[in-house]
Amino acid sequence: MQDRLWEIVELNPRADEQLHYETLFTIGNGYLGTRGSFEEGLPGDSPATLVHGIYDHAPGMLVPELVNVPNWLPVSIFIDGAPFKMVTKTTDIMRPPEGIVLGYRRALNMRRGILTREVLFRAPSGSVVRLEFERFASLSDIHILAQRIRITAVDGNPHIRVESAIDGDVTNMGVRHFLPEVNVDDRGDTIGVEVKTQQSRYIVGVGSRLISPHRIQTGSTGNRPYTVTSFDLAQEDWVVLDKFSSIYTSRDALQPLDTAQAKISEAVAAGYETLRERHEGEWATYWETADIQIDGDDEAQRALRFTTYHVLIAAPRTDERVSIGAKTLSGMGYKGHVFWDTELFCVPPLILAQPKLARNLLMYRYHNLPGARNKARANGYEGAMFPWESTDTGEETTPQWSDPQPDGSRIRIWTGEREQHISTDITYAIDKYWRWTGDDEFLIKYGAEMILDTAVFWGSRVEHKDGRYELSQQIGPDEYHENIDNSVFVNRMVVWHLRTALSVLAWLMGSAPADAERLIGALNLTPERLAKWNDIIAKMYIPFDREQGIHVQFPGFFDMEYIPVPHYEPRTTSVQAILGHARSIQTQVIKQADVVMLMALLGENVGAPDGLDVRQVMLNNWNTYYPRTDHGSSLSPAMHAWVGARLGLTEVAYDMFDHAVHIDLNDNKGNVRDGIHAAACGGVWQAVIFGFCGLSIDEAGDLQVDPHLPEHWRSVTFNVYYRGEQRTFTVKNPALVSSATR
Ligand code: BGC
Repeated sequence: MQDRLWEIVELNPRADEQLHYETLFTIGNGYLGTRGSFEEGLPGDSPATLVHGIYDHAPGMLVPELVNVPNWLPVSIFIDGAPFKMVTKTTDIMRPPEGIVLGYRRALNMRRGILTREVLFRAPSGSVVRLEFERFASLSDIHILAQRIRITAVDGNPHIRVESAIDGDVTNMGVRHFLPEVNVDDRGDTIGVEVKTQQSRYIVGVGSRLISPHRIQTGSTGNRPYTVTSFDLAQEDWVVLDKFSSIYTSRDALQPLDTAQAKISEAVAAGYETLRERHEGEWATYWETADIQIDGDDEAQRALRFTTYHVLIAAPRTDERVSIGAKTLSGMGYKGHVFWDTELFCVPPLILAQPKLARNLLMYRYHNLPGARNKARANGYEGAMFPWESTDTGEETTPQWSDPQPDGSRIRIWTGEREQHISTDITYAIDKYWRWTGDDEFLIKYGAEMILDTAVFWGSRVEHKDGRYELSQQIGPDEYHENIDNSVFVNRMVVWHLRTALSVLAWLMGSAPADAERLIGALNLTPERLAKWNDIIAKMYIPFDREQGIHVQFPGFFDMEYIPVPHYEPRTTSVQAILGHARSIQTQVIKQADVVMLMALLGENVGAPDGLDVRQVMLNNWNTYYPRTDHGSSLSPAMHAWVGARLGLTEVAYDMFDHAVHIDLNDNKGNVRDGIHAAACGGVWQAVIFGFCGLSIDEAGDLQVDPHLPEHWRSVTFNVYYRGEQRTFTVKNPALVSSATR
C-alpha cells in the first residue's frame, strides 16, 4: 500500500498557517471531532473538541451553537527544566534561548485515521531530543481517545518532566457555555473534569490517564487536573508514554464522568497497540467501500481521500438524533448547524458507501419532524417545513441578523424564513436512499411520512394565480438573490417532490396498505389534497425562455446588470466582495450552482418544452449560467464538475473538480480555520461517481456507467452498495486504454 497517497503532510510549520492545519488535521469518529492542535499549545491556537448533539444557547447569543468541550489533548514536556515549544526561529541554534525545532514532520494518515508528529528539538540546555506524537479517536470504540508520546535523547542526558492535563476552562472563542461549578477529579490515577452547559444542561465528562514507566503524581490548578511524571534519559535512551482519554455526555450516559473513567480502565487493560489495531481494522472496513481509486492522477487521488476522510469522520455511527453540520466537527463555523449540505452533498456518498450511516442521518430528520411541523404552523402552513438551519431541537435556528460588519451594521438574514427548498432536498435524499438501498422498511416506517408531510406543506404553500401555480418570496441555491418570485430551481423541484410523493403513496398502497391507510389518516391525505398536488404538477410555472432555449433562474434575472465573472480572474476573493453587497445583488452574478444544481439533481429529467431537445437546453443553460457564477459558496464547483462531465465538457469539469477537491487543502476560500467544508467534500465524491463515471440506475433497475473521464485519468475503480450487495466497478478511459494497447 502506497501511504504517500494516503497522507497529508506538513513539513514547514508556519505560525500563520496553524489554524488552517488544525482544521485539516482534525481526527474524529462520528461521535466527536478534535482539531489538530499541538499537545503543548501554541499562542493563538484554537483547540477544540466538538461532540455531536451538544449544543447550547449562551446568554446574549442570537442562536445556539455546538459546544467546545474540555480539552483532552494537553501534554507539556519540560527538558532540563525548560518547556518544549514550537520555536522555529532563533539567532543561535547551538544555545537557543527558548529551544529550537531542528526538524519536523506532521502527517495525517487517512488510511489509518492517525495523526503523527515528529519533532527534533534542541532544548535551551543544549540537549537534543526526538519527540514522536501519535493520536487517534478510536473508530472501533467511539469513547476512546488515545495518544502516544515517545521521547528519545539524541544528544545529552536530559532530565524530562511530562505534565498531562485536561483543560476544563475552554470556551467557544471567548463565549462560555458551562456553568461555573466544574467538577474536577484529581484523586486517583485517572483524572477527570465534568461540566454542565448553561442553557441546555448537557453534562459532559472527560477522563484521562497517563501511563508512564516512572512514578506519577496527580494534582490540579483551577479546572485543570493534571498528572506529572519525571525521569532522566541517558543518551540514545527513550521512553514511551501513553495517554488514554474518554468522553461521555448525558446524551449517552447517566454518570458521564464515572462512565468515562471506567472506559479508561478498559482501555488501559487492552493496551495502546490493541486499541490501535482495532481502530485501524475498523478504518479498513470503511475504506473498503468508500475508497475511490484514480489511476493517472496521484494528486487528485490523495485529495479525494482527504475529502472522503472528512465525510467519514463526521458521520454519526450509532446515533440517529444528530447530523453533520456544515463545517463538520472540525471548527466553529456556522455554529455546528445542519443545512441542506447534509442531505444533498454528504448523504449521497454515504448511501452508496456506508448505507447505515446515511440512514442515521435521515433518521435525524425523522426525529425532528415535530420541529418541522411547528415551523409550518407558525408560518401559517400545513404539514412539515424543515428548518434551514437545524440543531438538537429541530426548531429553526437560523439567526435573523449577521454578526456586525466592519462598519458596525448588521445584515438581515432571510434564509431561515425563505430558503424553503430544504424540505424538498430532504425528500430527494430519502428517495435516493430508498432507490439505492431498497430499504422498504425505512420508507414504510419513516421515509414516506417525511416525503408526504413535506408535500402537504408545499400544497399549502403554493399560490394559485391566473390559472397557474407560483411561489413568491423564495431563496434558491443562489443566495445573492433573495426573496425572489418563481425560482426555477424551487418551482421545478417542488413539481418533482409532489410527483415523488404521489408515486410513493401509490407504492405504499400496493406494498404496505395498512401503512398507507395509517399515513392517509394521520396526514389527512384527502382525495382533494391529492388532486391539488396533481394540479400543481400540471400547472406549476417553470420560467423558461423559448427563444434562448434556457431555464430562467427567475423572471427578471436577465434585466439586471450583466457582469462577466471570468473578467475578474485572477482573484482571491468573491466577485460579491469586489462589487460590494449592495451592488452585486442588483447584478446577474450568481453565488453558486442554481440552475446547474437543478441539472445535477434531475439530469435530463429537468425537462424541456415540447419541440426542444433537453440535451441542447442543458448545454444552453450551462453556457448561460457558468460565466455568471461566482462560486462564492464552496458548494458550487463540485456541482459544476458533475454537470460539466455529464455534458461532455471534461476539461472545464476537471478544473471545477480540481478547485472543489482542494477547497480545504489549499484554503481556496481563506476560511478553513472555521472548519472543513462538508458539502464540498461530499460534492466531489458525487462529481466523480455520478459525473465523471456516470453511474446511474437505468429503467430496468440495473446499474450503468457512462464515463466521461478527464483526459489523463486512465481509470477509476470504486465500490458501491446497491440493494444490499456490494458491487465493484472499474471505469476506463477509452482514449488511454486503446493507445496503451496499441
Ligand atoms: C451557502 C449555502 C450553504 C451554507 C452552509 C452558504 O454560503 O450559500 O448553500 O448551505 O453556506 O454551507
